[in-house]
Amino acid sequence: MSKIIDGKSIRDKELKLYKNRVDELKANGLLPCLAVILVGNDPASRVYVNNKKKACENVGIKSLEFALPEETSESEVINLVKTLNRDIGVHGILCQLPLPGHIDKEKVINTISPMKDVDCFHPENVGKLFLGKSHFVPCTPMGIMTMLKYEGIDVSGKHCVIIGRSDIVGKPMALLMLQSNATVTVCHSKTSNLSSYTKQADILVSAVGKAKFVKKDMVKSGAVVIDVGMNKDETGKLCGDIDFDEVKDICSVITPVPGGVGPMTITMLIKNTITAAQAQIN
Ligand code: GUN
Repeated sequence: MSKIIDGKSIRDKELKLYKNRVDELKANGLLPCLAVILVGNDPASRVYVNNKKKACENVGIKSLEFALPEETSESEVINLVKTLNRDIGVHGILCQLPLPGHIDKEKVINTISPMKDVDCFHPENVGKLFLGKSHFVPCTPMGIMTMLKYEGIDVSGKHCVIIGRSDIVGKPMALLMLQSNATVTVCHSKTSNLSSYTKQADILVSAVGKAKFVKKDMVKSGAVVIDVGMNKDETGKLCGDIDFDEVKDICSVITPVPGGVGPMTITMLIKNTITAAQAQIN
């Protein structure tokens, strides 16, 4: 039987530390503030935004929500971002993705001031991340690295296999693991003979978005298995990319869905918001 990583308990420990940092900033006359833009009515996005606001409240960060109707034009969203860039009382800006089809997400992301880009999506920050010099780090990959640290799992010298090459998770995850001296393999939808790679993984990270996609015969005995998936199973219940019931018996450590990576992603957003506010003092 494997160890199940409790993302909520790590989140609570981290948030306690961040609350102290927010208190210090407040004592110095600075109230950290995160502005969240949500366009349209995607129910999953609404849940994510609510959870982000709740985490802000939890540590004493001010959050501003800009919930805009589906038909909002691209230029209206861009103008809002420009206004928030100029507002010295706003330290972090996050535009929840996906955006409606008529809005070019790249244009919106590229408008966010790199100093306020708490998602670390702006090309300037992505470039700095590539060089290991970014002061922001993308939330989900940083959350995973933090979890591994809490569990005493050193990635140095390990073979880390990532399934998924998205800009938000797969690619930055590979960079962070590489920077921590892992040997990294990135697999994706066009990878042939996927399980020949996944079976080599000391640490397997799945970010494909397919319910119960990773089966027992794709995992090496004793591997560490990290599930980034947020899917619905055949009964409509939330589940990850990993077939948890099968895989838990052969791996050494596994993250559950829900209650694994998800809470860590939001925690790292709080960390980046504090970093953004702190940078304005400095
Ligand atoms: N949609 C899904 N994940 C994310 C995220 O990490 N940041 C933003 N802005 N949108 C998302």
